[in-house]
Amino acid sequence: MTLWEGRLGAATADEVMAFTASLHFDRRLAADDLVGSAAHVRGLARGGILTGAEAGILLAALDRVGEELAAGSFAFKAGDEDIHTAVERRVTEIAGDVGAKLHTGRSRNDQVATDLRLYTRRELTEVARRVLDLQEVLLSRAVEAGDSYLPGYTHLQRAQPVLLAHHLLAHGWALARDLDRLVHTVDRLNISPLGAGALAGSSLPLDPDFVAEELGFAGRFENSLDAVSDRDFVAEALFDLSLLAVHLSRIGEELALWSTEEFGFVTLDDAYATGSSMLPQKKNPDVAELARGKAGRLIGHLAGFLATLKGLPLAYNRDLQEDKEPLFDSLDQTGRALLATAGMIATLAFDTDRMQAAADGSAGAAVDLAEWLTERGMPFRQAHAVVGSLVRDSLERHVPLAELVQSHPALGLEAVGLLEPGVAVTRRTTPGGAGPQAVAAQLDRFRHRLEVDVERVDRVDQPPPRGTDGA
Ligand code: ARG
Repeated sequence: MTLWEGRLGAATADEVMAFTASLHFDRRLAADDLVGSAAHVRGLARGGILTGAEAGILLAALDRVGEELAAGSFAFKAGDEDIHTAVERRVTEIAGDVGAKLHTGRSRNDQVATDLRLYTRRELTEVARRVLDLQEVLLSRAVEAGDSYLPGYTHLQRAQPVLLAHHLLAHGWALARDLDRLVHTVDRLNISPLGAGALAGSSLPLDPDFVAEELGFAGRFENSLDAVSDRDFVAEALFDLSLLAVHLSRIGEELALWSTEEFGFVTLDDAYATGSSMLPQKKNPDVAELARGKAGRLIGHLAGFLATLKGLPLAYNRDLQEDKEPLFDSLDQTGRALLATAGMIATLAFDTDRMQAAADGSAGAAVDLAEWLTERGMPFRQAHAVVGSLVRDSLERHVPLAELVQSHPALGLEAVGLLEPGVAVTRRTTPGGAGPQAVAAQLDRFRHRLEVDVERVDRVDQPPPRGTDGA
């Protein structure tokens, strides 16, 4: 049986079912479909379209479907094209004739949009929570890192020493922006499309404001055409997740690099590394590499879905069914990547001696020499040239830089002190800078931001005020 047997004479061809059915992926909307349907039933009762008794029967049937789904005893049937069809079919089996009233005033168009908003609201919140967990890990590793430092790089060339804590928090702040985006996306999507019907609303006394409130949405749609065709929230979610994945990818790339013998800045815990099937000595950073690799896939989902949307006229078109698989996959992949990355960072060992040796062994204090001269009245461009030629001299003649600094008339012994191990990094004192004082303040600010963000995420995750129990 199809939902449209009154209109179409022939049964749907098998290959059409195979091509158009979405049950195999949209069954994960089941819980949201039940919650949405229950709100719809309460709305129908409120409008006098259903009697209290009829609503009670439908709500009980929806509850039972929920139990069957939870117990794994729900039997899907060949004609169940999608989760909405399957639920309505089963409600009708359980509730008898009243079941035929469930879909009154509703279309799968407003139904699926409602379900997907409920689902996305919850799942993005879960991703946000995992972002917070990763930020906590970065924060605790930053605190633990104390005053250890490493070379900061530009162009992947050693540039200036920075505290390890500073480097870790740099990733933490990128994640703070991801979190902010996720929260705003949830805020924007928190609008109920239920009551828009197929595209134009209804002749029946529905109350979209009432069902919106029932479902814990902040409000209802303004325009029924927009309500059923709007998938901005999916595109936004895909973007938020893609950029988050890009950030994880950059962390992954760095850790893959840092765990090489050439860098040797970190050793991954055995539980977060893999071996080689052939080479007995290998220990590979597969988590870091897949954190990097998954980003490509997520960017593909975003680009693909924007392409799906771009040519669609108003209002619902079946193309919109293509919203779910990329969204589900992006959520799954990001969720797993966040957990694995947090575990990898929590358990890896930093080789701070090696990091510091790398930072001390270079001309990482060169700009400090130039700034020292500037403080004594030399224009910076001139100071830059003086120090630059000393560095060149040192490299060409194989003379230690300290020796050249000591014998230079404008520099001398006091300036040599800047080249002592660990001195340069302490001079990065400006707000947001890489030295110990500035980083101590930054740690406080980061900790505070994290506390605020934990509360923000707790607040967005207000579950709908009522369940499917008809309370
Ligand atoms: N499975 C469909 C989707 O995901 C549900 C809506 C179908 N609506 C329709 N008029 N064919 O978009």
